[in-house]
Amino acid sequence: MISIKSKNEIDLMRKAGEVVALAHKKIEESIKPGVTTAELDRLVEEVIRKNGAIPSFKGYKCPYPGGIDYPSSICASVNNEVVHGIPGLRELKDGDIISIDIGAYLNGFHGDAARTFAVGKISPEAEKLIEVTKQSFFEGIKNAVEGNRIIDISSAIEDYVTSYGYTAVREYVGHGIGREMHEEPQIPNYRSRERGHRLQRGMTLAVEPMVNEGTYRVELLNNKWTVVTADGKLSAHYENTIAVTEKEPVILTILD
Ligand code: MF3
Ligand code: CO
Repeated sequence: MISIKSKNEIDLMRKAGEVVALAHKKIEESIKPGVTTAELDRLVEEVIRKNGAIPSFKGYKCPYPGGIDYPSSICASVNNEVVHGIPGLRELKDGDIISIDIGAYLNGFHGDAARTFAVGKISPEAEKLIEVTKQSFFEGIKNAVEGNRIIDISSAIEDYVTSYGYTAVREYVGHGIGREMHEEPQIPNYRSRERGHRLQRGMTLAVEPMVNEGTYRVELLNNKWTVVTADGKLSAHYENTIAVTEKEPVILTILD
C-alpha cells in the first residue's frame, strides 16, 4: 500500500527535509583533504540533534544476515564505494569523491537525501560523473507528475545516464518515504520489467540514482553494509525526497 500524505503532512516532511539539507550544508563546508568520515558523521549528528531531529539511519536493521545495526548518522561512500559506506578513521585525500547520504526523523516523518562531493581537486572524469548523476535525478523527476508511472521516472534516469556511457545501479533502488524511511513503492533507476504504480498527488518519494563509471554490477563487503562497484571504478549518488503534485514535484530536502 502506498501512503498518500495530506498537505499538512507534506509540510511536516519539509521540516524533516530542511534538517537534512542543513546537514548537507555542513558537510559541504567541512569536506577537505585530511578530514575523517567519522568526523563528518559527528558534525552531521550534531546538526540533526540541535534541530530537534533524530538520525534516521542510526540503529537501522541490517537487511543481510550477520550484519550489525547501522552504527552512524550518515553513509559515507568513497570513490568505488556505491552506497552504505560506514564512517570511520579513513582520512579523505585530495582527488577523492565521496557520496554522503543523510536521513533525519522529525515530527513523525523522515527526510532522506544524498550528494556526491569532490575532495580538493578531482579529475575531469570524476567531475563529469558527479554532474551527470545529479542531472539524472532532475531528468527523472521531470516525469514525477500525477498520472505518470514509476517507470517514467526510472527510464528517464536510465536513458540520461547511459547516454554518457555510464550505468545505473540495479540492485539498489529509490523508495517511498514518510512515517517510515522505506515505504512502497520501489523506484528503480532503470527500466524494470514492471511499469510500476501510477503516480498520485501526495505520494512522497526518495528518488536516488546511483551511477557507475563502468559496470552496473556491485558487490557487498564482508561488513554486510558497504556496497562497492564490481570493477573498482567510480560511483556517484544523488538523492532528494520529493512530493508528487498535479504539476511539478516539490523537492523537500532543500533550503528555500
Ligand atoms: N538513503 C539510504 C537508503 O535509502 C539510507 C540507508 S542507510 C541505512 O537506503 F542504514 F539506514 F540503511
Ligand atoms: Co534513500
